[in-house]
Amino acid sequence: MARLNDKMADAKKAKNDEFYTLYEDIQKEINAYLEYNPDVFRNKTVLLPCDDPEWSNFTRFFAQNFENFGLKKLISTSYAADSKPAGIPYQLTLFEMEGFGYDEAKTRSHGKIFTLTRRKNKSGKIDIDDLEWQYLEGDGDFRSDEVKALRDEADFIITNPPFSMFREFLFWIMEAKKQFLIIGNINCVLYKEVFPLIMDNEIWLGNGMGRWISGFIVPEAYELYGTEARIENGQRIVATNNCLWLTNIEHGRRHQPLHLMTMADNLKFSKHKSIREQGYPKYDNFDAIEVSYTDAIPKDYDGIMGVPITFLDKYNPDQFEIVGEFNHGKDGDFDLAAPTINGKSIYKRVAIRKKG
Ligand SMILES: C[S@@+](CC[C@H](N)C(=O)[O-])C[C@H]1O[C@@H](n2cnc3c(N)ncnc32)[C@H](O)[C@@H]1O
Repeated sequence: MARLNDKMADAKKAKNDEFYTLYEDIQKEINAYLEYNPDVFRNKTVLLPCDDPEWSNFTRFFAQNFENFGLKKLISTSYAADSKPAGIPYQLTLFEMEGFGYDEAKTRSHGKIFTLTRRKNKSGKIDIDDLEWQYLEGDGDFRSDEVKALRDEADFIITNPPFSMFREFLFWIMEAKKQFLIIGNINCVLYKEVFPLIMDNEIWLGNGMGRWISGFIVPEAYELYGTEARIENGQRIVATNNCLWLTNIEHGRRHQPLHLMTMADNLKFSKHKSIREQGYPKYDNFDAIEVSYTDAIPKDYDGIMGVPITFLDKYNPDQFEIVGEFNHGKDGDFDLAAPTINGKSIYKRVAIRKKG
């Protein structure tokens, strides 16, 4: 029974790897980087790996905006149908590939590569119709030498990677020192492979978390296990509130300061009753105060403060420094303590200190 449950959990996990990103969510996020720097993609090569270009809105969005963004090259790669979990069909929705060398047997065993360059074309405008494609030598696994070579050629790696391989995927980007924008689960920020990078300001959150990503398109084969779903334009969409964008591309939001009150004002006027009544208790096992709400961070406190993980969505590195986390107390030097107050464990926190 236990083995059957494990197998079901594995299958469910693998199927979560098949969540596809909505066009409007990609557009909303990318626009924020362009607002900060309209030339962010100019003369650059963008790789969209793990991307099933037949379906992918990432490919559609970047191909449609190829000229607007001044891109040098767009590359998108997909994973072979037979390498995906059982029951995930391949569907030709964005491109009609028959007549262009489409071969069902090869689609099963090989990944595909789509490229768009500045080559002159008939319509005079480079867009999605100019994408050229061919089969990859292998199945399109991002860990293959073939896709690694594409990674090395690119300036930006942008995708929603398979959720079950998030850590490995981020490492794959970081080892090549690339700029990136990827989607992950909110919990990823406390992974011991991820948190130190956030702490050192090597990577940060994108423009929003939770409901900012409005949903994902899921394949028909996906069982919903009671998840909230809607149908739009014939596509099944699940709403989520637990995902975020992770990046190392600059955007304006992370330089906007949080507007905060002093500790004295919070104790008198905070909208949170617990702050007015209990103030800011100290942890039993670490010299830091507990701040249960990001908007109640006292702007004049000089010591270490434990703040909710959602603070990272508002984190401005000019205003605060991240000095560690309060998690298990043993994930690494940065994991300062498993926080308790009066002997009671409290929720995981990010440890911060004000700057200047
Ligand atoms: C979460 S989906 C996202 C797809 C697309 N990037 C999007 O956002 O719409 C992840 C994709 O990665 C593919 N994938 C899973 N394991 C992979 C691997 N080892 N290498 C490359 N792609 C993989 C899945 O089949 C799936 O198509």
